[in-house]
Amino acid sequence: MIISPLTGVLGAEISDVDIREESTFTDIFQAFVDYGVIAIRDQKITPEDQIRFAQRFGSINCNPFFTPHPKHPEIALVIKEPHQKLAIGESWHSDHSYDAIPCRASMLHTIEAPPIGGDTGFASMSAAFAALSKPMQDFLRNLSAHHSTSHVFGSNAKDRYETHKDGRVNNPELATHHVIHPVVIKHPLSGKECLFVNRDFTTHIEELTDDESKFILNFLYNHASDIRFTCRLRHAPGTITIWDNQATWHTSINDYDGYRRVMHRIVVNGVALESAAPTST
Ligand code: SIN
Repeated sequence: MIISPLTGVLGAEISDVDIREESTFTDIFQAFVDYGVIAIRDQKITPEDQIRFAQRFGSINCNPFFTPHPKHPEIALVIKEPHQKLAIGESWHSDHSYDAIPCRASMLHTIEAPPIGGDTGFASMSAAFAALSKPMQDFLRNLSAHHSTSHVFGSNAKDRYETHKDGRVNNPELATHHVIHPVVIKHPLSGKECLFVNRDFTTHIEELTDDESKFILNFLYNHASDIRFTCRLRHAPGTITIWDNQATWHTSINDYDGYRRVMHRIVVNGVALESAAPTST
């Protein structure tokens, strides 16, 4: 197995491996923890192989909003057709931050990629947090934020977005999630401190006024998407991309109008999040 890091902060490409062989998993999982996002190249796998591989990361979470694969409900279809304008997941986010126990990992199997474009961008939430001043880190560690789905997947959003009108995003009545998470978490696998707010699903910071909350969230969104903390991954048929939703954000780069892009996506459950705030004894 060859692991080639993409940047100094996150991301690695993996080649010379067959994910169907169980013996490779320990090294793949360690690379996932170390790099936050990994792209495993040149896999010739079936949907059943993808499901088996995903289950090694944890139990599968069937996303209620995305159109499922017709034969495998564990797999969500993330598709953009040549005539469609919007892609799914265009703004920086971490998947399922709106769940009480947010998912650990998301996995894309590239079925069809445009000839150029259609990359996914990733940002490191530990590098972004580590680059803040100590007073700002201390301030953020004691805050918590509200995350929800109604503004993204609910019936109001249904009237606004092409992805909802054309049936790529469904079930607006299920968009009732409301959860509170720490703004800074202690990562469950690496122990690193990571920012845990995102543009899509975080609505406000609980302890602040509306104006303060908007100001701080906007600052964090601009800061954490700085190019120093990011990498981008090119997709090709047979690439399996897996990212850690507690360590990274991602954004689907929509620069391939007129071409088809098809991904098989599986999301894997995680563990309850722990705040990075010091515990009082
Ligand atoms: C997603 O946001 O889960 C999809 C990312 C992508 O299609 O690049």
